Amino acid sequence: MKQLFTVFLICKALLFTVSAQNAPAIIPKPKLVKMAGGQVTVSDITQLVIPQKNPGLSRLAEQYAGVLGLQKYKITESATPSFAQDKSLVFQLMQRESSKEYYSLTITKNGILVLATTERGFFYALQTLIQLLESQDPQKGALILPFIYIEDEPAFSYRGMHLDVARHFFTVEQVKQYLDLMARYKMNYFHWHLTDDQGWRIEIKKFPLLTEVGAWRKGTHQGHAHDKKAGSDNKPYGGYYTQAEISEVVRYAAERQIEVIPEIEMPGHSSAALAAYPEFGCTGGPYAVETRWGVFSDVFCTKDTSLWFVKEILNEVCSLFPGKYIHIGGDEVPRDRWKACNNCQAIRKRLALKNEDELQSYFIEQVGNHLFNKGKALIGWDEILDGGLAPNATVMSWRGVKGGIEAAKMKHNVIMCPGSHCYFDHYQSESPREPLAIGGFTNLEKVYSFNPVPEELKPAEARYVLGAQGNLWTEYIPDVNHLLYMAFPRAIALAEVLWTPASERNYLEFADRLRLHARWFQKNKINFSHSYLDLGYRTHTGKDGVEFSFVRPPVPGRILIESEKPEEGIVQDYTLSDTFLLDKSIEFAAWYQLPDNSLGRSLRLNYQHHLAAGKNINLLNSPSERYPGMGVQCLVNGFSAPETRYGGNEWIGLEGQDLEATIDLGAVKDLSQVSVQFFNAASSWIYLPVSLVILSSEDGKNYKEIARTVLAETEDRVIRPSVSMPEGSKSRYLRISAPNYGLIPKGKPGGGHKAWLFIGEIIVE
Ligand code: ACM
Ligand code: ZN
Repeated sequence: MKQLFTVFLICKALLFTVSAQNAPAIIPKPKLVKMAGGQVTVSDITQLVIPQKNPGLSRLAEQYAGVLGLQKYKITESATPSFAQDKSLVFQLMQRESSKEYYSLTITKNGILVLATTERGFFYALQTLIQLLESQDPQKGALILPFIYIEDEPAFSYRGMHLDVARHFFTVEQVKQYLDLMARYKMNYFHWHLTDDQGWRIEIKKFPLLTEVGAWRKGTHQGHAHDKKAGSDNKPYGGYYTQAEISEVVRYAAERQIEVIPEIEMPGHSSAALAAYPEFGCTGGPYAVETRWGVFSDVFCTKDTSLWFVKEILNEVCSLFPGKYIHIGGDEVPRDRWKACNNCQAIRKRLALKNEDELQSYFIEQVGNHLFNKGKALIGWDEILDGGLAPNATVMSWRGVKGGIEAAKMKHNVIMCPGSHCYFDHYQSESPREPLAIGGFTNLEKVYSFNPVPEELKPAEARYVLGAQGNLWTEYIPDVNHLLYMAFPRAIALAEVLWTPASERNYLEFADRLRLHARWFQKNKINFSHSYLDLGYRTHTGKDGVEFSFVRPPVPGRILIESEKPEEGIVQDYTLSDTFLLDKSIEFAAWYQLPDNSLGRSLRLNYQHHLAAGKNINLLNSPSERYPGMGVQCLVNGFSAPETRYGGNEWIGLEGQDLEATIDLGAVKDLSQVSVQFFNAASSWIYLPVSLVILSSEDGKNYKEIARTVLAETEDRVIRPSVSMPEGSKSRYLRISAPNYGLIPKGKPGGGHKAWLFIGEIIVE
């Protein structure tokens, strides 16, 4: 170990840009900031000057005077508010064509002048002021503000966060904390996922059983959905919000310039509703509130009475939520029941609908028209595109950005929340110590790199992309601390993506500002994930081995390593070069040490050298954009993929396609066996290939089969079948072929879809 690393013991200069010393750590970063020398002491401000007859602004000014630390002050209403004799905080309403979210902030020796077009602009100016105060050196004692000029408005009008309270319930107080944090980062839409298979969480007076029955389940599945062993905990679980509580949350959000969008799931994800009122399903039940995670076949029937039922529910929902939008779900609707239902089929015939996709479209359109007549706008997940999009519908694009692009081209409004960048229930670090998550890999840097407007859209189409949203599904998030850990800091990164133009964003500089915010979370005892400070790694093709490089966290620090058998049993005090060659098997651990000497979590690696390690590999079928690993080279980089989860750097996912990998071993080699890691998780639509076939070639053109094995179905887990090569096998080129399982059988999760094939390490010996 030592000799391996000492060769590379070159202390490299730190590559980090340190942001301008006195630029304030405001997130999201304002559009324009100009600093001037000088500062004003907050307690010297003794006057609030606000526009006449504007109770909203008056309330806001008084509320925040305390928050900002003003002590004794008098309030003056003025037709033309401006700086007064005494140092003052002045709110001046301005006319401006553009954004109702615009504000400017000027701090001089006279105090603070805020200009905005609406109450929202003033609210955002105050959030900026609070962060400006937090940016000051805490050692200084008195609260001071620097002389500064800020002009600001957001890049996108929709800056959302979603919260699933069906899978796990969060109290009104916890929801309020979530709203507080959204407001701090100037997010303005709260998408409240109130109903799902595992619980109905909103009181509907006309249908009391929705909460009496639908809000309670008999237990909760333990472990991952594809882990069948643990089963349910058999502990009754539930909860719901009364209408008074709903109104209180709506009011609280509005005070923070946040519109609440309720989501009432239909026609799918409706087990809880059907458990309460089975007559609105196709089969009549009985149904149960689900204790497991997934997609379930029992959905609302499309018959007239079921439509009446959901419209009556929506009538109450519309009167509770004053905002424009009502979300009706529309995602993941199996068609099995509709196909077998006389009522559904009679409707299909009556309306001459071609298939069940059009039946889904019919259902959504009926609901959309109803909402439209009540002055509301329908939002649905991108499945509402199937079978034709309802007029005026806004599409929330979650299965990638494809649905969003399609809708924008059809001149429909779009909110982007592709799983790849906006699902905060995904893992946020490669560390095995991350808490159990649904899967996927969406780290802070990836969120920060998000561009909500795909390049395919022409400017006239791009206008329809209103913004984006971070989604927090809570199957694997049982409590509020865990929720905060998953949400922050990823939501903060998204807030900046949606506020600050891409040309002004830089991840390292953001991470530098984020450190101050991390301290704020710590000071306020609000959970926050430091996973973005984990050390990462990448591998590349190397000469006779694997070129390994560390991926440094986005803050200055140094890398420390420990070998398999540390001579002194301690972390060796090496500052490592970032790149080196691995050419023999080795286990090692590495840490990142921050300037305050704190160590991040360890990165523990087990490199297993083999004949294909670091060699060139090509795939006939490209990996899915959602599961690209760290590039196809990860299949032969000497690091096995983790057994506990798919996604991340070491797994590659093929959607419906065969594995057809060609490896150039560089020279003719003696071969004894080939083994390949495959993930197997039917509940996540991931299946083993039907067989594993090895072909070889001397010239890289003509291949012949040399060995094969057929893979039997097994329980869900990672398997690593190996195929022995015939005696005396030699070859330079290998082709590894593993045909995809094909279409998922009806009745299984994802039935009718193409199976996913996940491949980890290919080991050639
Ligand atoms: C979704 O994640 N099913 C919208
Ligand atoms: Zn039916």
